Amino acid sequence: MVELEKLNSLMLEYLDPEVRLVLDLGKYTLEAGGKRIRPILMIEVCRMFSENCERVLPLAIGIEYIHMASLLHDDVVDGALTRRGRTSANVIFGNQAVVLGGDYFYAKALWLYAVYGNLKAVELVSRAVMHMSQSQILELSSIGKIISEEDYFRIIDGKTGALFAASMSVGALMGGSPLYEDFYKIGMKVGRAFQLIDDALDYVGSEDKLGKPVGNDLREGKCTYPLISVINQLDMEWVAERFGKEGREELRQKVITLGGVENTKRRAWEEVEQAIEYISKFENSSTLVDLLESVVKREY
Ligand code: IPE
Ligand code: IPE
Ligand code: MG
Ligand code: MG
Ligand code: MG
Repeated sequence: MVELEKLNSLMLEYLDPEVRLVLDLGKYTLEAGGKRIRPILMIEVCRMFSENCERVLPLAIGIEYIHMASLLHDDVVDGALTRRGRTSANVIFGNQAVVLGGDYFYAKALWLYAVYGNLKAVELVSRAVMHMSQSQILELSSIGKIISEEDYFRIIDGKTGALFAASMSVGALMGGSPLYEDFYKIGMKVGRAFQLIDDALDYVGSEDKLGKPVGNDLREGKCTYPLISVINQLDMEWVAERFGKEGREELRQKVITLGGVENTKRRAWEEVEQAIEYISKFENSSTLVDLLESVVKREY
């Protein structure tokens, strides 16, 4: 498995801004923790194809910078107060510094891709960020609305799937595999599963383990898979009276009772099983298979 300590110290080292506030912001966010699932996936895919994966490290760090920038911006957009078990950076540093600092981390990531990667790696990662930012906007315009399953997947494929797609795809590319586009598609499935679990945990997770509040999506008027999967069993007027409103706790309980969370976890497994089926045909795939399973088994 990936040496997390090494990854974490390199991640601080590569930040290297000239302005103190940018460093403080980066350190604050990185030192709060996080699962580092995207860089780990990238490195493990690379290792499945090659024994020489040192050169993927700066790109793995770059993908975590992109993730970090997206979280900083996401917390401004969502008006979040907590992240990774701490007061979120937007509260500590203010929205303006967080938005501008986020820009630095995005650019730093692309710089790492240009310097340590190649043009294809730059293309894959830019493709993901373009997809991600558009879907974040799509989600914004869906706030307060009950959306279809189709629209839900359109949103999560972009906001989360795309970065997982880039992680796995760049891992394959740097490992010398010509199958990097296949890995983009597989990563998309893994990212889908990851977001489905995030949305399930928002209904039933533990705030302590997650490091962010639960019940946030209904509070924000975000319609996610647990609700979508049971919507046909509910009276729409009853839902409208509670969705994003005072009665949201009653709605949350009802969705749980009707099996919305189990439906979501089952759907996440289906996505990951397809990914595992694909990965299993490669030699040395066991570490990666375990990692993919952990995406759906996770409780935080
Ligand atoms: C949070 O991502 C945002 C989503 C895409 C759900 P992570 O759950 O990977 O966040 P950290 O990095 O572990 O804090
Ligand atoms: C975050 O989605 C996705 C991105 C940061 C692109 P959420 O808004 O669901 O993430 P959390 O729940 O705040 O971590
Ligand atoms: Mg959010
Ligand atoms: Mg959000
Ligand atoms: Mg969430």
